[in-house]
Amino acid sequence: SSDNRVRIVEVGARDGLQNEKKVIPLATKIELIERLAKTGLTSIEAGSFVAPKWVPQMANSNEILEYILQQKIEAPVPITYSFLAPNTKGLQNAEKLLKQNPGRFATQLDPDVTKPAVEVAVFAAATESFSQKNLNCDIKTSLERFKAVIQDSKALGLRVRAYVSVVLGCPFEGFDVDPHKVAEIATDLLESGADEISLGDTTGMGTAPRTSALLKCMASAGIRTEDVAMHFHDTYGQALVNTAVSLEHGIRTFDSSVGGLGGCPYSPGATGNVATENMVYFMETLGMETGVDLDAVTDIGAWITQELGKGNDSSVGKAVLGA
Ligand code: HMG
Ligand code: MG
Repeated sequence: SSDNRVRIVEVGARDGLQNEKKVIPLATKIELIERLAKTGLTSIEAGSFVAPKWVPQMANSNEILEYILQQKIEAPVPITYSFLAPNTKGLQNAEKLLKQNPGRFATQLDPDVTKPAVEVAVFAAATESFSQKNLNCDIKTSLERFKAVIQDSKALGLRVRAYVSVVLGCPFEGFDVDPHKVAEIATDLLESGADEISLGDTTGMGTAPRTSALLKCMASAGIRTEDVAMHFHDTYGQALVNTAVSLEHGIRTFDSSVGGLGGCPYSPGATGNVATENMVYFMETLGMETGVDLDAVTDIGAWITQELGKGNDSSVGKAVLGA
């Protein structure tokens, strides 16, 4: 049934790679995206139009978007490719490429399923200290900037996802994150026109009771579960527990990263997102439908972690491979 369906947003090619010190070749990033596109995933975060001075690893996101716009990526289902943009400058850099490739992507105004859809993602924070570290401005200023990014994106027909980071713990302010503040920021972003809020447990400090309290607070603020995604980093190994709690609250969209890749440059010590392999396996055990091929994502997780010279952080991936 439709209530059993879960959408997984694969963030490995962005969140997973942005923090890597060693420059990852463009070809490797493109191969990662091409492989992911074949697994049944419908949402793939592919890059980030941020200042290269701040996040050098994402500097070739324009080339990734250009590649996507060539429409050469084969996929069994229509895919939405998402790109972060922190300000109108970032969006304008993406827009330039879109304007050079008219008719080569689907939009909300022209939802042609034979073409790749492009989505923009803005990213706010629930605490002032994280906002300053991540965006170099206070929350209020960031929301004003995002309003412009969202409106310009919508004018181009692009779907917009809006992250709120550090919703369950902040590297600088600890556990003391006010869920009402999260709901207030989410409401502001939705009123500005965002299609979806992704609640980021950037530090992995979220626990089951506090995840539940946060989602109750979101519901009390009138935010619909269908407008909410959860984005769990697995630093403390609580991501799937918090996922179960979120499912009980009616959430059906979850972000994850193949091989458990990831970390945020402005969240010291935070590790990767919950692994896509673990997420898919977990959903299968619950009888939920992800549409994602577990064996295929397992192979990708093993390949990309080896490619990056790091250990495979997916326990399910390792178990499936018998490693
Ligand atoms: P700033 O330094 O305050 O910006 O940075 P500025 O407007 O003063 O510009 C400084 C320089 O950056 C200028 O260049 C601009 O042109 C350039 P210069 O004149 O010095 O040569 N610039 C840009 N270049 C390319 N693209 C742009 C852009 N904007 C300015 N968009 C800014 C402000 C927001 C740009 C900066 O802080 C930034 O890029 N931050 C990126 C932060 C980031 O990417 N963080 C990681 C992603 S968020 C995350 O991981 C969390 C998430 O996963 C959810 C979760 O886990 O919670 C989403
Ligand atoms: Mg993240």
